[in-house]
Amino acid sequence: MTNGNIETRLMRRGIVHIYPDAAETCRAAADRVAAIAAEAIGERGRCFIALAGGTTPIPMYRALSESDRRQQVDWNRCEFFWTDERPVPPGDIESNFRMTNEALLRPLAIPEERIHRMKAESFDKDAAAEDYQEELARAFGVQPYGEPPRFDVVLLGVGDDGHTASLFPATPALLETRRWIVANPVRKLESVRLTMTPMLINRARHIIFLATGERKAAVIAEVLEGPIDTQRLPAQIIRPAEGQVEWFLDQSAASRLESK
Ligand code: 6PG
Repeated sequence: MTNGNIETRLMRRGIVHIYPDAAETCRAAADRVAAIAAEAIGERGRCFIALAGGTTPIPMYRALSESDRRQQVDWNRCEFFWTDERPVPPGDIESNFRMTNEALLRPLAIPEERIHRMKAESFDKDAAAEDYQEELARAFGVQPYGEPPRFDVVLLGVGDDGHTASLFPATPALLETRRWIVANPVRKLESVRLTMTPMLINRARHIIFLATGERKAAVIAEVLEGPIDTQRLPAQIIRPAEGQVEWFLDQSAASRLESK
C-alpha cells in the first residue's frame, strides 16, 4: 500500500491526488484501480477496464500485478480493452498492447479471451475501428450502435500537447458524436491511430488520469485550471456525466497548479 499522499484537492475538473514522486503516485493509482475493480466485481460480477498507453503507466501496471494487489482482485473477471493504439503490430516497441502485455497482462496470466486488442495495424483502419466497437458490444452484451457501454475504469495519460488517448488537438475524433471507436488521423504524427471517442470515455464510472514529471506541469495546470478549449486541450473534453474523474500526480507534475 502507499505511504499516503501529500494532499488531495477537490477541484472543479476532478479530484486531484498529489504524491511525493512518480513511484508513489503509480502505487497509489494501482491501489485505486484495484479497489475499483474489486468493487465492480463485487457489485456486477465483472470489471471492464480500458488501459492507457504511453510510458507513464508502466510502473502502475507493474504495481497492479504485484502480490498484495494480485490477491485483492479476481483478475479473471476483468475484461481488458485499450483506450487507443498506434498503427503498429502487437510486437512492435511502439505498441501499447506490447507494453501493457509485458507490464500487466502476462504477469497476471490473463486468459486470451479476456484480452481485447485494438488491431490498429490493419490496413483498413475504419473497418478495424468498427470491428473493435462490435467486439466491445459483444463483451458488454449490448447493441453495437446504441448508447455506449459503461467502463468501470478508464485509465488515461496526458501528452504535453494536451492530448489524451489518441484524441489529439484539432483532430476529427474530438467532434465524433455517434461512434465509440474511430480511426483518427493525427497530422503532426503523420499517422492514423485507433482511439476511443469522448462519448465512450465519458460514460465511464471512473476515469483515472496519471501524470508524472516536470514536463507535464504546464499542461496539467492548463487542463485543470485554464480556460476550457477542448480543441487545443483535448484532455479537457473528459467530463463524464455520471462518472468520477481522479488525477494521480506527483509533485513535479502538480507544481504549476495554483489552487490549494
Ligand atoms: C499513447 C497514449 C497517450 C499517452 C500520452 C502520455 O498511445 O501514447 O495513449 O495518450 O497517454 O501520450 O504519454 P506518456 O505517458 O508516455 O507521457
